Formats: sequence, structure tokens, C-alpha cells
Amino acid sequence: MRTISPGVLVKKEVAESVKRKLIEANALNSELRPKAVNDYVIFPIKEESVEFAKRMGLKVVYEELEYRHKVKTYKEIVEVPDHLRKYLPTSYDQVGDIVLIKIPNELREYARNIGEAILKTYKSVKSVYWDLGVKGLYRVHKLIHLAGERRTETIHREYGMRFKVDISKVYVSPRLAEEHKKLSEYVSEGDVVFDMFSGYGPFSIFAARKGAFVYATDINPYAIHYLYESARLNKVQDNVLAFVSDCRKISQSLKADHVVMNFPHHSIDFLEHALKTIRDRGIIHMYVIERDNAIKSTSENIIRKISSAGFKARLLEISCGKPYAPYQSYYGLHIEVSRC
Ligand SMILES: C[S@@+](CC[C@H](N)C(=O)[O-])C[C@H]1O[C@@H](n2cnc3c(N)ncnc32)[C@H](O)[C@@H]1O
Repeated sequence: MRTISPGVLVKKEVAESVKRKLIEANALNSELRPKAVNDYVIFPIKEESVEFAKRMGLKVVYEELEYRHKVKTYKEIVEVPDHLRKYLPTSYDQVGDIVLIKIPNELREYARNIGEAILKTYKSVKSVYWDLGVKGLYRVHKLIHLAGERRTETIHREYGMRFKVDISKVYVSPRLAEEHKKLSEYVSEGDVVFDMFSGYGPFSIFAARKGAFVYATDINPYAIHYLYESARLNKVQDNVLAFVSDCRKISQSLKADHVVMNFPHHSIDFLEHALKTIRDRGIIHMYVIERDNAIKSTSENIIRKISSAGFKARLLEISCGKPYAPYQSYYGLHIEVSRC
């Protein structure tokens, strides 16, 4: 880890005596390593000691110098006023080599400092964006560039699978990686899967990799573009047929063993269309956002709704449980259904 710092440029033969004087005056910045340049040494000094060094007749230079210890978190080097440090985010999402971070209101004017600090601290990060949340029907992130390359396309990895995505054009949530893989634990070779709200296709491609045939729909054309790119990257293009379409239209003309419904605020409104596609029996994998103390009763309501549509329904598992808001989480309901 390096940073630009003020330093004093001194001849090697006087280096030791100058260093002693800097230490005595509490001017040496001991967090950084001195740097040798030909016959000279640059000693890092504190910003507030620059005038002192000049009064001593020393030549002050600004140079990129290395930290002595390995910086473990961006918080160690980020420049924000001390009284605001407590608001620094402890977590963020990384998609490929791009970081998406939510900035609390108190730190809005220091957002770029946070971006720069993240970029300097983590070698795998090439761009940092301020994440203003997902918006609209496509659920796409609204972003402000903070630091690094102005690039929104990247290769995102989950459990050995590679996905090409553009974080400004399609919904991406690395926090759902476990759920994407979970679907493949339910799916067997030869099964037919209908991924109603496919996005860039993480559920679809995990299922296709397991040997299932997947029909995928999304109304966002970029989502289907990146789904096919990723299908090719993972060599499952022959197992996927994707449509830029409202899932309700396609649901009229296909039959499936598994239906994936990841449109958490609205999944339930599409339940009748999902059921239409089930052969004699199958599994609905429905994602919802729900209050933690209400998820049990919500799942019971959904089971009742399925029963009144002429199916037997059995809850196999409630998965995920990733926090979404205070007392609310993202839940996966895996429900076995069979026609009565
Ligand atoms: C929360 S995202 C889920 C994306 C993906 N399944 C994932 O896990 O990354 C919901 C997706 O549903 C799509 N969508 C919304 N309404 C739709 C509809 N009626 N038919 C098909 N897709 C729809 C949006 O464009 C968006 O990509």
C-alpha cells in the first residue's frame, strides 16, 4: 500500500543525523517507509511538520511512499473528520473488480475519499461506485462514479461460474450467490426449469450447468444479452432458451418441473402464471422480502393460495434470510406442488 506524502530529501551521508532531528521534533511519519533514491534518502514527514522542515533548511518533496504495515481495511487510511468515522460503512458489495458502496448521509461530501481509500487498499478493486439503490421495473442500480476506472462491465464469479454483467444495466446482487447455487441442489439432469425473472441469468446458468433445460424470461433486453454471454462463458448455451418478454406471455406455452420467481416485492402477484407451467408436480422457488416475524404466516398464506388453485402444496424449505432492512429479510420459499 502506497500513498503520496511529504518527505525530506537528504544526502545519504547526513541521513542518520537528519533522521534523529526529525524524531526529536516529532516530525517523522513512522507509518511510512523511507525511500532511497540514488545518493539520497527521502524521510516521510507529517503534513503539519512541512514548515518546520523548511525552516531547518531541508528540501521538502511530495513522493509516493509505502506503508510499513499492511493496511487491512480502507478505514485505516480514509480521510474523513474523526467525529464522522463512526459512520464509515463496514460492508459493501463487490461484483467482479467493481465495488458498489452505500454512503450514509453524514459522509456524502467525503464519498470520493471513501472511493479512493477502497481503491488503494484492495488490489482486486479497479472501480468504485456509490450505490443509490435499485430502481424501476428492471431493478437496476443507480450509481455515481467515485474512484478508479469509469467502467461498469465486469466478469463476476460465483462458485466457479463466470458471469459477464454490466452493473448499470442489469440487476446484480452478489449477496444471493448461495441462493443461485442452492437451486442447482434441487435440480436434476433432464429437468425443465422456468426462470421467470432471470436478470443476467444466475439461477438459469447454475441449473443449466446441472444438466437441466432452462427457459428464461426478462423484460430487460440487456439482461437477456448478458444471460447469453454468460451461458457461453460457462458452456451451457445449448441448455438455455431465453426471451426478452413478459414472463406471463411465455408461461402460457411451456411446462416446467421448477419455476424460479426472484422478483421479491411482486413474486406473489405472478403465482397463478407460475402454477400454470407446472406439469403434474414440481417445485416453486419463490423469493420474497418479508418481516422476520411474519415469514412463517406469509409462507402459510402462499401455501393456502396454491391449494385453492387446485394443487397440493408442501413447504420444503425457507432459505436465504439475508437482511434487507431492519427486521426485514430476503427469503426463499421452496414449495413442492402437485396437481390434485
Ligand atoms: C430482482 S431482479 C432478479 C434478477 C435475477 N433473477 C437475479 O437473481 O439476479 C428482477 C428481474 O425481473 C425482471 N422483470 C420485471 N418484471 C418482469 C416481467 N413481467 N416478466 C419478466 N421479467 C420481469 C426485471 O427486469 C429484473 O431483471
